[in-house]
Amino acid sequence: MAKTPRIAVVGSANIDLTTFTDQFPKPGETIFGQKFDLGFGGKGANQAVAAKLCGAEVFMVARVGSDLFGPATIKNFEQLGIDATQVRQVEGVSSGVAPIFVDPSGQNRILVVKGANDELKPADVEAAASVLKAADCIVLQFEIPLETVYYTIHFARKNGIRCILNPAPGQPIDVKAVADLDYFVPNESEAETISGMPVRNLEDAKKCAASLLSSGMRRVIITLGANGSLLAGRDGMEHVPAFSVKSVDSTGAGDAFIGSFAVFLGEGLPEREAVRRANLYAGLSTTGVGTQKSFYDRARFDAEWTARSKS
Ligand code: RIB
Repeated sequence: MAKTPRIAVVGSANIDLTTFTDQFPKPGETIFGQKFDLGFGGKGANQAVAAKLCGAEVFMVARVGSDLFGPATIKNFEQLGIDATQVRQVEGVSSGVAPIFVDPSGQNRILVVKGANDELKPADVEAAASVLKAADCIVLQFEIPLETVYYTIHFARKNGIRCILNPAPGQPIDVKAVADLDYFVPNESEAETISGMPVRNLEDAKKCAASLLSSGMRRVIITLGANGSLLAGRDGMEHVPAFSVKSVDSTGAGDAFIGSFAVFLGEGLPEREAVRRANLYAGLSTTGVGTQKSFYDRARFDAEWTARSKS
């Protein structure tokens, strides 16, 4: 029986307003979209939900707004069995929201309004110290203030806790300031924004990963969508292929990868095996609409894994 990982996510929670459309309005124009979906999202919350559905014990540290969405978001965590004692409402601020546009190929465009996510400060991480110290992995993204991300990386290192950073949404940063972590996991566009190097194919990704490693990163995983992932360390690089799926909405696939990878690694699987499984978990999430609601639970995932890993 695999050990149950204890994962803490310090990150964002948003409400996703997803419109499915085959065209985009020009300035001043009104057009019809095809379908709408309202759901719980945010990169941090999505990663926490993926980790929980994969079987981990999960703690969320986040801030939500003083609006209808705030209490609903906290309730969603609680109903899923995620510890939300460190998710607090901030007075006078809206919750994070994300208008999302999905085209017929399943590709998404996301606009995030950070709202209360921007109020998650280093002092809040310190206030959650006892919860965080009990974790064996801390997961971070970039939808909260960068000073909080840097502080938490330092906290994880000081306390000997594995730390995974998903630098999403991509933004220019001082790479050396985030180098003191275990896994740096961008997608292609985030890797490009952060490194300043083009990442359009596997060869580009390898050059980019080499550059990130030379800046001090220990392990880098660049997720490549339908092309799988590149796992890179100072001991070498390996392309880990994706599994084929019928994708309808890719939103949240990166979050599904991160949350599930943290669990598979925490269960003690070898790194490459954890990446392979996370590739499948992320791929499966694109076969349903939305983010959290498209994530598989462990029993469904294991059934798919058993069927597909033989081939
Ligand atoms: O990664 C997908 C997520 O990005 C969405 O849930 C949206 O809220 C944004 O944070």
